Amino acid sequence: MADHSSPKGYERIETSNFLLIILTLFTISFGGLVEIVPLFFQHSTTTPIEGVKPYTALQLAGRDVYIREGCFNCHSQMIRPFRAEVLRYGPPSLAGEFVYDHPFQWGSKRTGPDLHRVGGRYSDDWHYIHLMNPRNVVPESVMPAYPWLEKAVLDPADLAPKMTALRKVGVPYTDDEIAKAGDEVKGHTEMEAVIAYLQILGTARK
Ligand code: HEC
Repeated sequence: MADHSSPKGYERIETSNFLLIILTLFTISFGGLVEIVPLFFQHSTTTPIEGVKPYTALQLAGRDVYIREGCFNCHSQMIRPFRAEVLRYGPPSLAGEFVYDHPFQWGSKRTGPDLHRVGGRYSDDWHYIHLMNPRNVVPESVMPAYPWLEKAVLDPADLAPKMTALRKVGVPYTDDEIAKAGDEVKGHTEMEAVIAYLQILGTARK
């Protein structure tokens, strides 16, 4: 004979849309909080490791070129602590290396190699030739060429507002650094800026 009594215990939850939705939301929210809240108090994620400095005006301008050109669509900046990655790219990335990065360029797409520790691996000239046309140094490369970077001259007026904005989110630029930022980039090309940026990447922990 069929049991017509109302469902009990777990069956009661499974047969009620309302209860199932509420309890699912509660479980996910609780699990999320347990994972996220401790991070607010974990200083290793918010304190720069020794040697990490805010980007100079030229490096910062280069970083913006990197973002504008979408380099992150093919390059990550996050070396995971696995043997294969460490052998290929260098020491694993630490949270404290990215505290002045707004926004992070960690990425997850690796059409090209990870760039977190590319700083100092090649000469400025190599980067120049490579960015002008990657096939000149790596014949089988599928990376696009960026010849216009050599012709585009940086606008010195862009830098002070950028650095002031970054200071608001915690990058410790001094008034003096902000005042001199325009002069630092004056006359430099976007090519020089992006190379300056690439050359500093990951060097704090080498
Ligand atoms: C369509 C994907 C793609 C895009 C977009 C791209 N790259 Fe690449 N990149 C590659 C590939 C593939 C390689 C490996 C072959 C080579 O060295 O050219 C590479 C290699 C590199 C290397 C050498 C890394 C090493 O360890 O040997 C650097 C530096 C680099 N790219 C910088 C950049 C910069 C800066 C930009 C943006 C201006 C950019 N890439 C955009 C695909 C890309």
